[in-house]
Amino acid sequence: MIKKISVIGAGTMGNGIAHVFAQNNFEVNLIDVNAAQLQKALQTISKNFDRQIAKGTIGEDVKKQSLANISTFTSIKEGTQDADLVVEAATENIDLKLKIFKELDQAAPASAILASNTSSISITKIAAVTNRAEKVIGMHFMNPVPVMKLVEVINGFLTDKAITQTIVDLSKQLGKIPCVVNDYPGFIANRILMPMINEAIYSVYEGIAGVKEIDTIMKLGMAHPMGPLQLADFIGLDVCLSILNVLHEGFGNPKYAPCPLLIKIATAGRLGVKTGEGFYTYTPGSKELTVSKYFLK
Ligand SMILES: NC(=O)c1ccc[n+]([C@@H]2O[C@H](COP(=O)([O-])OP(=O)(O)OC[C@H]3O[C@@H](n4cnc5c(N)ncnc54)[C@H](O)[C@@H]3O)[C@@H](O)[C@H]2O)c1
Repeated sequence: MIKKISVIGAGTMGNGIAHVFAQNNFEVNLIDVNAAQLQKALQTISKNFDRQIAKGTIGEDVKKQSLANISTFTSIKEGTQDADLVVEAATENIDLKLKIFKELDQAAPASAILASNTSSISITKIAAVTNRAEKVIGMHFMNPVPVMKLVEVINGFLTDKAITQTIVDLSKQLGKIPCVVNDYPGFIANRILMPMINEAIYSVYEGIAGVKEIDTIMKLGMAHPMGPLQLADFIGLDVCLSILNVLHEGFGNPKYAPCPLLIKIATAGRLGVKTGEGFYTYTPGSKELTVSKYFLK
């Protein structure tokens, strides 16, 4: 029976994951090496609950109870010692994740399930640094977590079927829709999404159409809620580049090679929404989409 959840990493994804578990009456330990990040995450969670209250989907009492369900820690050891499930949502870096899972394997109870929210790193590889590979699984939430319904559940090579079932049931308990996939580079979500984003960037690179035109064609023609270039900015151009590199290296197929333009923009530090500029320029407080001056024809 899963009751106590530890969430590692209190960034974009970690705060959303803590939010949905806390709202569904789980006890949540939110852990980050950066104490300031923990404070920021609590403020974000509180603001996101206010948004749900304003929409009329929850009452003040739910916010109060949910926030009371969350405790914060800066130490993995202290924050996971009585966990039934750990969901790791730390920075997307293979060495960091392997280090965290080695530490978790020592710190968390032997019965605990260890899940990663990684977008692209092999679950089988992560599981191999632990002594409980059968209890290691991918639990890939989508951003923003309180809003997005999907959980991509990823079976590592050695993941036990009963553990997969537990994570499927748990995802449903959170009001999410789980989809189980196997562990190959990019899983399903990013294996299909990233080549589309890369192709959109190639279309800019080859001068076939402008940024606005490409996004408008995909929005109006395919009923996508946002165009692939805007989505790439939202995800982070550095993140898109690193996922394409994982696909390219993992399959050894040139069709996944990142577009030279993506490499150039990411190298220049124009990473999208988080840096204020990518294919579009972002002004805090404004929802208007202005094409970056580097991509104006
Ligand atoms: N951002 C997205 O849209 C998205 C979507 C799905 C999955 N993911 C995945 O979720 C994970 C987190 O992504 P994010 O966008 O929230 O990143 P982020 O940069 O917003 O947050 C990462 C957090 O991890 C913390 N951290 C780093 N090392 C740590 C350690 N040793 N112990 C504890 N905390 C540590 C950092 O301080 C930071 O607060 C990544 O694996 C990413 O691939 C991201």
